[in-house]
Amino acid sequence: MLDFRSKIKFICSAITRSRPLYAQLMITDNCNLSCKMCGQAALRGSRSAELNRGYNRLAELTLEELEVVATNLRKVGSPLLVITGGEPFLRKDLEDIVRIFRKQGIQVRIQSNGQLINEDRIDALLSLGVSEYSISLDTLDFDKQDQINGRTGSGLQAIKALAILSRVLPRRANFTLVNTVVSPLNLHDLLALIKFVTRIGFFHSLIPAHVRDNTPVGTLGVGGKTLSSHDHNFKFITFCQLDSIFQQVLEMKKSGYHIHNSERFLRDSLSFLKGEKVVQRCLAPDVYFHIRYDGSVTACLEQSSGVGLNIANDDFWERYKRKSEYRKKLKTVATSCHGCMYACYAELNYFCTNLDVFIRRGIDDFRKRNYQRKVYSYSEMLSIVKECCE
Ligand SMILES: C[S@@+](CC[C@H](N)C(=O)[O-])C[C@H]1O[C@@H](n2cnc3c(N)ncnc32)[C@H](O)[C@@H]1O
Ligand code: SF4
Ligand code: SF4
Repeated sequence: MLDFRSKIKFICSAITRSRPLYAQLMITDNCNLSCKMCGQAALRGSRSAELNRGYNRLAELTLEELEVVATNLRKVGSPLLVITGGEPFLRKDLEDIVRIFRKQGIQVRIQSNGQLINEDRIDALLSLGVSEYSISLDTLDFDKQDQINGRTGSGLQAIKALAILSRVLPRRANFTLVNTVVSPLNLHDLLALIKFVTRIGFFHSLIPAHVRDNTPVGTLGVGGKTLSSHDHNFKFITFCQLDSIFQQVLEMKKSGYHIHNSERFLRDSLSFLKGEKVVQRCLAPDVYFHIRYDGSVTACLEQSSGVGLNIANDDFWERYKRKSEYRKKLKTVATSCHGCMYACYAELNYFCTNLDVFIRRGIDDFRKRNYQRKVYSYSEMLSIVKECCE
């Protein structure tokens, strides 16, 4: 949960839109999994041939460069930074990176596949003030999870990570999330997964699988490095079961299961998965923006081309202050985009533009303030998995 100061800043930013509520930083492009629905993984694979031929990959930002990023981010005024990748835990200096941003008073949340999480690292990150994570898990059928991830044992490893987080993180008012990409591969596993996440006391974020054909999800940049996938196994072609499962998900949300998504988001996700156009105004870059692993600023994770603005450069702040120069370009990208249903962006759009979502989120957060979860060990979690799948 955001601390009080950051929360006030967050709410004020949502109302005035005078500064972004949140920035996302991809600290690495590398990953230890190759999930089938992940456009980044697909591109990594297709690029390995080029890498072997000496393709000059952009280097990740060094700690010195990240110091500049953090100073600039403080000046921009975003209260929250989500560290993502690739897989953030692949960076051995993750703790140093977090320290740099914390020093500037920025709250940090980490998105991870859970494979490299261990107690020492989570302890160290907690002592730096990182108490919330998003862990990816798409099904409790671990063979299937391994197939999706392209690695044997990865599903169970994600459960181990959740058990470590359960033990180490604060039990009260902690909004650690399990991220699930909804696709035909796991549609029938969703209800069990929601029950499991609720039982272990974390919260669940459902993200519809983004699949592109020739028509891109967004107005994609040259290079096409995006999160959405080309794998059509992740695309729904029949919808009747989709309708009925989403109806049950909505009912579960109403009856108190830990589904973090707003009802509006769930309804629009259903339409999106059916291939319908979801109309919403994209608020990038005013409300959120993305920083690629080389420091270049883009509207979001889906947009691979920058606008010539690099937050790791010393002249960033001077250029940022003359907002119209780059903002116009980023806005053009965002407004001409076909739209997306990535929870990290779409939910913020609703939060800032839809009074009903704004109020409900406020009520939800207020209720969760006193929520206290129990601690579960790995073997206890496995028993809960079994019960939820029965
Ligand atoms: C790109 S990953 C980066 C962080 C980390 N490696 C992880 O897996 O959590 C961030 C999130 O994007 C989700 N994702 C990957 N491919 C997607 C797609 N085609 N559509 C929607 N979400 C996707 C992942 O499941 C994950 O929850
Ligand atoms: S979704 Fe995350 S874990 Fe999977 S390949 Fe993409 S970056 Fe790696
Ligand atoms: S709608 Fe906005 S956040 Fe979503 S893909 Fe398009 S530009 Fe990115």
